[in-house]
Amino acid sequence: MDHIDNYFKERRSVRKFMDREVPDSMIDSIIERAMKAPTTGNMQLYTVVISREEEALEKLRPLHFNQPASMGAKALLTVCADFNRFSRWCEVSGAVPGYDNFLSFISAMLDATIFAQQIVTIAETEGLGTCYLGTVTYNADQISDILELPDMVVPVACIALGWPEDEGEATERLSLEAVRCFEKYPKFSDDEVKRLYVAKDDYPANAKYVKENHKESLAQVFTDIRYPKAMNEEFSMRFLELLKQKRFL
Ligand SMILES: Cc1cc2nc3c(=O)[nH]c(=O)nc-3n(C[C@H](O)[C@H](O)[C@H](O)COP(=O)(O)O)c2cc1C
Repeated sequence: MDHIDNYFKERRSVRKFMDREVPDSMIDSIIERAMKAPTTGNMQLYTVVISREEEALEKLRPLHFNQPASMGAKALLTVCADFNRFSRWCEVSGAVPGYDNFLSFISAMLDATIFAQQIVTIAETEGLGTCYLGTVTYNADQISDILELPDMVVPVACIALGWPEDEGEATERLSLEAVRCFEKYPKFSDDEVKRLYVAKDDYPANAKYVKENHKESLAQVFTDIRYPKAMNEEFSMRFLELLKQKRFL
């Protein structure tokens, strides 16, 4: 069990990959095992689109802003919330599906996310490197077009996959006290909140970001540079539009 414990303690995202193929059979085997993940009513409301041809990757990478992890990855796995397949099965089986609504999107998004994380965990325990690309939700509309996703199928996660070139950077985490509570949500004072984030504020790589970006605090790096309000709002609108177009709203 030690190796399992070590895996969970040591795991990290990988953004630099070797020029070494990941066999289709290996990806299939990972996905088959990930399909044992829990799923809403065992409906399996997900589909994963594997892009590994250079032509497909060339179209997708700019939509992931050519992020380092997208450039060297041997495959991009776009995991989609999918109520299309299940609804069609209902229709051809004399049942009337009622899944063109937001609750159904949430169910499919949860199934897809849990499935995606299971893929990540299995791939990493087999020695592969992975990195999620959050840009999948920023440009979900254009990615949907490229992957020819039908109604009620929306991309929610993308996993860059390959053999690690390096082991990736170690990252910091909040303390247990910050993320778990008993019975009721805690009422932290401002000072307590500050204290919870001291480990992040003081983490050398984070302190470096603050300096490089000429900011006063790590929080400002998040609010002003990484995830600014205007950007969040623009991508929110586009994602909501996509949900309407795909008949989830
Ligand atoms: C939903 C989600 C989206 C992410 N998007 C990106 C991304 O676009 N680019 C990237 O380099 N890493 C991305 N990551 C990876 C996180 O940056 C990483 O998990 C976090 O910094 C913790 O580092 P670790 O995974 O190495 O422990 C994403 C992770 C998640 C869960």
